[in-house]
Order: sequence, then structure tokens, then C-alpha cells
Amino acid sequence: MKQIWRNCHVATMAGGEYAAVERAALVTRGQHIEWVGAEADLPRGDEAAEHDLGGAWVTPGLIDCHTHLVFGGDRSQEFEQRLQGMDYAVIAAQGGGIASTVRATRAATEAQLYASARRRALHLLRDGVTTLEIKSGYGLDLPNERKMLRVARHLGQTLPLTVRATCLAAHALPPEFAGRADDYIDEVARRMLPVLAAEGLVDAVDAFCEHLAFSPAQVERVFQAAAQLGLPVKLHAEQLSSLHGASLAARYGALSADHLEYLTEADVRAMAAAGTVAVLLPGAFYALLETQLPPIDLLRRHGVPIAISSDLNPGTSPALSLRLMLSMACTLFRLTPQEALAGATVHAARALGLQASHGVLAPGKVADFVAWDIAHPAELAYWIGGELPKRVIRHGEPVCATALD
Ligand code: NIG
Ligand code: FE
Repeated sequence: MKQIWRNCHVATMAGGEYAAVERAALVTRGQHIEWVGAEADLPRGDEAAEHDLGGAWVTPGLIDCHTHLVFGGDRSQEFEQRLQGMDYAVIAAQGGGIASTVRATRAATEAQLYASARRRALHLLRDGVTTLEIKSGYGLDLPNERKMLRVARHLGQTLPLTVRATCLAAHALPPEFAGRADDYIDEVARRMLPVLAAEGLVDAVDAFCEHLAFSPAQVERVFQAAAQLGLPVKLHAEQLSSLHGASLAARYGALSADHLEYLTEADVRAMAAAGTVAVLLPGAFYALLETQLPPIDLLRRHGVPIAISSDLNPGTSPALSLRLMLSMACTLFRLTPQEALAGATVHAARALGLQASHGVLAPGKVADFVAWDIAHPAELAYWIGGELPKRVIRHGEPVCATALD
């Protein structure tokens, strides 16, 4: 069905800029955008339903391209410990951290995980998110990784949002493999990934490359397995130290390398050459009280696309608002509001391999957009918290309030 959305201003985000069209209109047909431009130039044509957007600013639906939103339990006590001076790595070495969420996630049923994840996904949705990546990585064995990925798929089937499921089985060493990290990597590469991929549960493969997780050599074996399965890769890299995981990811043509506080110029060059997106996670930087900033100017200078994401997870980033991350990307990382919005639209789409269809408002793209009751798109990064009045349109259809209860 053809629909006309008029009386608005549009930030198309083409080329990573607002690329604003004032006094604009959009035409959608079915799930796709057919036309965007000045309302005065609206093509006359066949019968269409009309919607008056009341002077709103329209942006692409926001894309949260790095989350761990399926998990059991919470880690508020670990937050207290960290504030008393205990280090994230020390807590992990003592069996806390990721391992404690693994215990809670293994103990939870699929239905329990779905119910808690759904509540978190609704927070993001109400904030304008229409596409979401969800990682596994708190199961760390075949049945529990499968359980997490099935919940991710189920969320995409039941909520008005597009979900990409990423297998992060190489997130931490499960207790039953203590002292045998290479054996666990074998299990991930030879058994878990092929089985989960065959079940249609995996859109991409991720790993945690860090001294408290897996070495570049171990990550490389996971990447080789992913390549054999035809799956794209991503990597948690250079968060706490420099292991040049981002360069390794670039060698495998990774969609993205994420965190990147300790990224070097050589890594930046490798990412630029490979077209790998830098996904920055200000929520984790903030919650871990980090001081080492990712090298924003180097990324800019070498033309590496920068995405911004919530990293929603129970340990290092219990962040339920992507808009708040845009604000923090500006205040903590000194991005401009335009760069931050590009980071949650056009560049986030690329970080998920969805750049052909998502992230920009242009003919042929999916009709996922948000009409915000604001006077300028910089407001999306400006307000700290709260709810901005808006209408969310996904696949050409208004998302009604009842879908968000
Ligand atoms: O992206 N860095 C590793 N993984 C998550 C944290 C996971 C956790 O602490 O539960 C992250 O920050
Ligand atoms: Fe993460």
C-alpha cells in the first residue's frame, strides 16, 4: 500500500550527515521508501493514505548494533564493588563478572530469559530503536548458547523490531574448561558454531579479545570457523589493553571492531583499508570509570565510520537508552551530535552488514523511521534521559503504543 507522510523535516543521514530536507515529505510503498524530498515536489500519482506528521523531524529508525540484552540476573553488587575500588579484571579473576552472569543465565529457562529481555528491548524501542543486535555469550555451552540465540530470534518475531543475532560463544572461558582455553576454542569452532549456524540462529560471529578472555591466536581460530561457515565476524577489541585484535578483525574483513579505547594508529589504518566500522561504547567507558579515550581524531582522519551503541549488558553497561549513549558519545568522546546520530543510524547499519537496506532514508530502503517532536536533530543527543515524544514507523506501519506495553 502506498502512503504519504507529509508536513515534516527529514534528516536522511545520507553520507553520514543530517542531509536535511526541510518542509519535506516521504512516500512509502509497502515496507519500503519510494520517495523522499521537499513537500512542494511531492510527485502526483495514484491513490495513497496520507499522514500529517505535524512538523516533526524524521530520522531513520535508530539502530543499536552491539547489545548483550539477553541474560539472567543482574550485577548491581559488582557495581558497588567496583565503586569501592575493586577492578573489573580482579572481580573476573575471582569468579565474578561475566562468569556470574553465566551461572544466572544457565539457571534461567528460555521463557524467563525472554520475559526479562523483552522488558529491556521495550525500553530501547520506546527510545526510537527499530533494529537491534543481540549477542549470546552468557551460555558458553551448546544448549545455553542456543537458548540465548533462540530468545534473540523470538524477540525479533514478536516485537516490532529487526533483530540480528550474533554468536559470542568465545566471550569467556566456562568453568568446565578451566585451564583448557584452547580446548574450549576447539569446541566453539568445531561444534558449537557449525551446529548453531545450521539451526539458522547465527547472523554473525563475535569474540572477546583481551588478556582476561581470549588471545588473538584463539580468536583467529574462531574467525576461521566463521569464514568456513560464510558468516561475517566482529570483535570486542582493545577495551582494556592493546592486543591488536582490531587489526586481526580487519584482516578477516570484520563488519566491526568494538570498544577500541587502546586502538593504535596501525589498527586504525587496517580498519580503514578493510572498511571495518569502529563501534564505540560510551556506556561501558562510563560504567567502568575508564579514562583512556578511544582515538576519535585518528578514526576521523583515516575515514573509519564510527558507530555508537549501548553495549547493554549486566556488567559493564546496564544502559537502557540509545539516546543517552548519543549524549555520552558527545560529552565523553567529543563526537558532534551529527556524528553521534550517524553512529546510531547509517554507520550502525554498516556494522551489522545492513547498509543496503537500513540506516538512511532514501528510495529503496526499508521504511523504518521515527518522527520526533523536536526543533532540530541535535536534540537527540542533547537531552539527557527522559522520553521524547515521537511516532515510530517500522516497515511502513505505525508502531502503536499497545505494541510497546
Ligand atoms: O561488551 N567486553 C566484554 N563484554 C561485555 C561485558 C560483558 C560483561 O561484563 O558481562 C562488554 O563490555
Ligand atoms: Fe559487548
